[in-house]
Amino acid sequence: MEFIVAIDGPAGSGKSTIAKLLSDELGFVYLDTGAMYRAISLKVIQNKIDLSNLDEIENMLKNTILDIKDKNIILDKKDVSDEIRGREVSNFVSKVATVKLIREEMVRMQREISKGKRVILDGRDIGTVVFPNANLKIFLNATALERAKRRLLDYKKQGIGIEIETVLEEIKKRDKMDTERENSPLVKALDAIEIDTTDRKIEHIKNEILGLINKMIIDK
Ligand code: DC
Repeated sequence: MEFIVAIDGPAGSGKSTIAKLLSDELGFVYLDTGAMYRAISLKVIQNKIDLSNLDEIENMLKNTILDIKDKNIILDKKDVSDEIRGREVSNFVSKVATVKLIREEMVRMQREISKGKRVILDGRDIGTVVFPNANLKIFLNATALERAKRRLLDYKKQGIGIEIETVLEEIKKRDKMDTERENSPLVKALDAIEIDTTDRKIEHIKNEILGLINKMIIDK
C-alpha cells in the first residue's frame, strides 16, 4: 500500500537527517530529491551544458542514467554521493533547479520510483508539486544562522575551511533563488505541518514526526 511522506524546507533545515532516520526506523524507502538535482548539476558542470539551450538540456537528460541505490547516488554508473556535496555543486544547483525541463524529468522520476511504495521524500516541492496528495506533509524550518552553522559543520567534516559569514551569505543566496524562482518555488503547502528545528534535538523532531506517521498508519 502506497504511503507518501513529504518533507520540504530550505537548505540546512534538517530534512535529510530526519528523513533518513525516519526511513531507517520505519523501513520506508528514502528519496533525497535534492541529491537528484545535485547529480544533474554535476553533469551540467562537467559537460559545460548551456542552460539556455533547450536542445542541449534535452539531449543531456536523454543520455543520463540516474540511479539511487541504498542512499547512494549513481550518475552514469559512477557513485557521485560525495562529489555532489562539494561547494561548487552546492552553489550552482539552485540555478540548475530553475530549469523547467530538468524539473519535469526529476518529478517524473520521483513519481516513478515512489509508485506503490512507502516512501519518505525530502525536497522543496514534494508537498506542493510532486505529491500534492501525500499522506503527510511536513515543512521544516530554522533560522538562516542556525542553518549556516550546520552547513559549516558539514564542510568541516569534508575538510573544507570556510568562514561562517561566507556560508551564511551562500545560504541566503540559495534561499532567495529557491523561493523566488518561477517554476515550483519553495513554499509551504497549505496543509503541511510546520516544525521549527532551531535549538531542537534531532531525536525529538524525529519522534514527533514518527508519532504522526504511526497514528496515520493505524488510522488508515
Ligand atoms: O536539499 P539540497 O540542498 O540537497 O537541494 C539542492 C538544491 O536542489 C536546492 O538548492 C534546491 C533544489 N531542489 C529543488 O529545487 N527541488 C527539490 N525537490 C529538491 C531540491
